[in-house]
Amino acid sequence: MYLFGQDNCGINKPDLQFFEELFESTKKHKNIVELGTWLGFTAMYFGIVTSLRDGWCITFDIRDNRFKKIIPLWTPNITFIEVDLLHIPPQNIVKDAIGRENCIIFVDNGSKLRELQTLTPYIHKENLVVIHDVDVQFPESEILSVNGWVMNVERANRAKEIGSACRLLTYGG
Ligand SMILES: C[S@@+](CC[C@H](N)C(=O)[O-])C[C@H]1O[C@@H](n2cnc3c(N)ncnc32)[C@H](O)[C@@H]1O
Repeated sequence: MYLFGQDNCGINKPDLQFFEELFESTKKHKNIVELGTWLGFTAMYFGIVTSLRDGWCITFDIRDNRFKKIIPLWTPNITFIEVDLLHIPPQNIVKDAIGRENCIIFVDNGSKLRELQTLTPYIHKENLVVIHDVDVQFPESEILSVNGWVMNVERANRAKEIGSACRLLTYGG
């Protein structure tokens, strides 16, 4: 079942629960950087959550796939930027965004493992990283430790319990 009354798109209930529990556990991480916007349903949800916390949301995608009805529903604190996440030059808005503090980075683009490998060195070490489609597109064993970012086992077990394909990584574990 998906949030916002949509079929097969948007944010599903287990992932919603994963994020709600994560937000509940940290007030500090009030901003969200999303890698992979697609239709813009998750960004709409993140925009509302971050807005309520006086934060912001930046969402990146290689192309504008946004559902036209979504755009006017987005909160004003959301920024959408078209960028190829696989070819990021040294000075770039993506590196700038993930290097800012108090962010949750949601890795949900087309090549999640590749992006995780290339972008983790630029992520602020106190940020939180959530990667999607674990054990769907790639095995969990691939993300146990990536450039010093370590999967949180307790939250992974909880994700499995509720049926979410999200996993949390923190720097140094
Ligand atoms: C799984 S969808 C994102 C879903 C969205 N976060 C949600 O939950 O509703 C993946 C998105 O990644 C984008 N994408 C694929 N390759 C990309 C690249 N090289 N750079 C940026 N975005 C890319 C696709 O265009 C697609 O919209």
